Amino acid sequence: MKVLLLGSGGREHALAWKLAQSPRLTTLFALPGNPGIARYARCLEGIPLTDHDAIVTVCGAEDIDLVVVGPEAPLVDGIADRLTAEGIPVFGPKQVAAQLEGSKLFTKELCKAHNIPTAAFGRFAEPAGARAFIEAQGAPIVLKADGLMAGKGVIVAMTLDEALAAVDEVFAMGVPGTEILIEEFLEGEEVSFFCLVDGETVLPFGSAQDHKRAFDGDQGPNTGGMGAYSPAPVFTPEIERRTLAEIVKPTARALADAEAEFRGVLFAGLMITSAGPKLIEYNVRFGDPECQVLLRRLDGDLLALLEATANGRLAGHDVTFRDDAALAIVMATRGYPGDYGKGSVIAGLDEADAVEGVTVFHAGTRLIGDRLTAHGGRVLNITALGTDVREARARAYEAVSLIDWPEGFCRTDIAWRALKL
Ligand code: AMP
Ligand code: GLY
Repeated sequence: MKVLLLGSGGREHALAWKLAQSPRLTTLFALPGNPGIARYARCLEGIPLTDHDAIVTVCGAEDIDLVVVGPEAPLVDGIADRLTAEGIPVFGPKQVAAQLEGSKLFTKELCKAHNIPTAAFGRFAEPAGARAFIEAQGAPIVLKADGLMAGKGVIVAMTLDEALAAVDEVFAMGVPGTEILIEEFLEGEEVSFFCLVDGETVLPFGSAQDHKRAFDGDQGPNTGGMGAYSPAPVFTPEIERRTLAEIVKPTARALADAEAEFRGVLFAGLMITSAGPKLIEYNVRFGDPECQVLLRRLDGDLLALLEATANGRLAGHDVTFRDDAALAIVMATRGYPGDYGKGSVIAGLDEADAVEGVTVFHAGTRLIGDRLTAHGGRVLNITALGTDVREARARAYEAVSLIDWPEGFCRTDIAWRALKL
């Protein structure tokens, strides 16, 4: 099979690495890819992911059998609709189902209509109503702007004053004229849970825990994710059973019944509360860096699973994972998630890669001549397998210590929850 992978981050490097192990793969193309992905794929340059016409043209010219979409933006923009209309199989949902990530209001209304456990909420078109609701509910309380906010747009207010002061700010974050959401504060531990969904069949694809804040001790600003491990100890078989029965399967059914079937990977961001799992949000693609740890643990042929998902033939397939734990440490350029410099030189990756159980994935790297340089916020993912999280973690941090990149930083406490550090 000839496969085209869209995206350029650590998530896509992990996808390329795993797809390249498939006996069914003949050629892998990546758009745009990165220097790590280039080891397994022909990277195509000069076409933005917003240019759907050009992507269709590439698929025709290269005789592509499957397009795998990494990030959410092209899905929310309708790339799956376009490719499907051209007869090109695609891993990733159509626009109508991608609203699960593109619109928080869409997801909340779907949950309400189908009794799916999530935080109670109100929606508001103007600040006065929002303030009255906050006064009535009290704090802590959560305010959210609607639309694709790239990890921003959420304020968790611990006091009434903070919540009231945040109202104007949250209205200003969203597209003018759209409503904001105000929801109940959920208490518990957060988990990312992934399922392959082909419209009808839902196949669990593992759990992970992310670290969203930039600095140790969960301090500092929110990021795309600074590290992850899998499996998540808090996600027990009983919690998984309930999540499938109460949250993921009713969602897939509701979308299929509304002729908006979901095909791709459904990423449920969950809060495990004392009353059981509740949905915080859906994403319509793999998590980054969650994907990296899931794929390190996956046994068997990823391409077969993605193809079956795209073609509505998941029934009868199995997902099997190694017993090992996997952990990923994100190395980012100093300054991230704020402003950061570009072009600093990275060395020592071969030494890091040689540590037992370790695989380094690239995110924001760029080759300048034969020098590897940092060109983004999140730049490298140091992943490791181990018999347990403790061993995976020790291996990953040993690899980090071998990387020579003074302009980079990482958290030193990845997996503190699992290890009760
Ligand atoms: P989101 O952008 O929806 O992922 O929200 C960002 C973060 O805000 C989540 O990862 C949670 O840590 C937190 N959060 C969102 N909604 C709630 C909620 N209802 N209760 C508590 N924390 C929340
Ligand atoms: N790591 C969280 C996300 O990919 O949204």
